[in-house]
Amino acid sequence: MTELTKEQLYRPGMEGIPACHSKIGFINGIEGVLEYRGYPIEALCKYSSFEEVSYLLLFAKLPSATELKAFKKDLKKARHLSAEVLALITSLPKTGHPMVMLQSVISALGLFDPHTDLRDEKKNYQSIVNVIAKTPSIIAAFDRYRQNAEPIEPDEELCHAANFLYMLNGHKPSELESKIFDVCLILHAEHSLNASTFSTRVTASTRNNPYISCSAGIGTLYGPLHGGANERVLEMLEAIGKVEFVKPFVEEKLAKKEKIMGIGHRVYRTKDPRSFILQDIARELFSQQNDNTLLDIALELEKVTGEKLSSKGIYPNVDFFSGLVYRILGFETDLFTPIFAAARTSGWCAHWLEQMEDNRLFRPSQIYDGDRNLSYTQVEDR
Ligand SMILES: CC(C)(COP(=O)(O)OP(=O)(O)OC[C@H]1O[C@@H](n2cnc3c(N)ncnc32)[C@H](O)[C@@H]1OP(=O)(O)O)[C@@H](O)C(=O)NCCC(=O)NCCS
Repeated sequence: MTELTKEQLYRPGMEGIPACHSKIGFINGIEGVLEYRGYPIEALCKYSSFEEVSYLLLFAKLPSATELKAFKKDLKKARHLSAEVLALITSLPKTGHPMVMLQSVISALGLFDPHTDLRDEKKNYQSIVNVIAKTPSIIAAFDRYRQNAEPIEPDEELCHAANFLYMLNGHKPSELESKIFDVCLILHAEHSLNASTFSTRVTASTRNNPYISCSAGIGTLYGPLHGGANERVLEMLEAIGKVEFVKPFVEEKLAKKEKIMGIGHRVYRTKDPRSFILQDIARELFSQQNDNTLLDIALELEKVTGEKLSSKGIYPNVDFFSGLVYRILGFETDLFTPIFAAARTSGWCAHWLEQMEDNRLFRPSQIYDGDRNLSYTQVEDR
């Protein structure tokens, strides 16, 4: 068999090119299936919790009751932020985007907790627990600081989702709010080799600890074509303003060949299975509100874009409804992506562990299209 040339192998954005073997997340983009370690996302959202799902992702099995209890205890113990980390957070500009803050502070955790020997399994475990447990505390502390408020101490009585809500909003959530947010965290915890997970694995492959590797993932997630889309969906729905403006909005966008946020996916050619679940949650939450305008605009947008784009396999993705849910839960728009990151820490750390098990440095090649062998001209002669 003749070997393929570089040009034959090349796919812009590495689309469809396998870059690793993995046993963590499974996606069937045609049928709209998502499974974590073989368990369908629908069952995990119904019966599990973010802590249990994190354990499953990290350790490839559902925990026993004792294992889950111990893991929850470790997470709770690690939620607290030291005075030094809080001082770092409060030294940053209040006007900065919380994702930029988060990337810097997660990376800095590795300075406060040096971790260089990656053969030390206990230390690896503690760093992973720190990243998962401290990310919500960092986001909440920054949000409080920019509102000129003191950070709220984590509450050991509360589960991961409820405590995150409590630290953000300053009051203990209802059971329904806590369950809904827990489901949101589960839905965002893992999604195979997307851009941010790839960048986490690339960074891990040079033998970096989980702090630095996840900080790379956070930077990648921030972009508007990835996690940043959820913020823009809500801004878009608010800008459209009325259901009757949806159709002209879509027509104008398509005529200008501009992307509509929250629609389309590199892997799914059908509606993202996560968006079904989020859509149901959004409906439930909006049914208790006086004003349903934003949900109605979203549903009309789904209908109109469906008429125009479904033939290309372009349907709502996870970001389409998550912003609506987050708005009702009371979050500022610029916290949507950090919350996505907080959930994704468990997926990134699972990929970190998997990368370490059988590490090979990522080093793709390129096709060089530039000049060669030019003769150098002195600056004064140019
Ligand atoms: C996610 C995304 C980058 C995937 O892109 P992709 O797999 O490269 O898809 P393509 O850009 O190849 O799109 C195929 C066709 O559908 C169109 N399309 C894709 N997403 C679209 C969108 N959101 N709005 C309008 N048209 C879209 C493309 O313009 C292209 O049309 P063409 O064949 O006439 O050129 C893209 O859908 C997008 O930018 N979506 C909006 C941002 C978003 O919601 N991101 C979150 C992802 S979870």
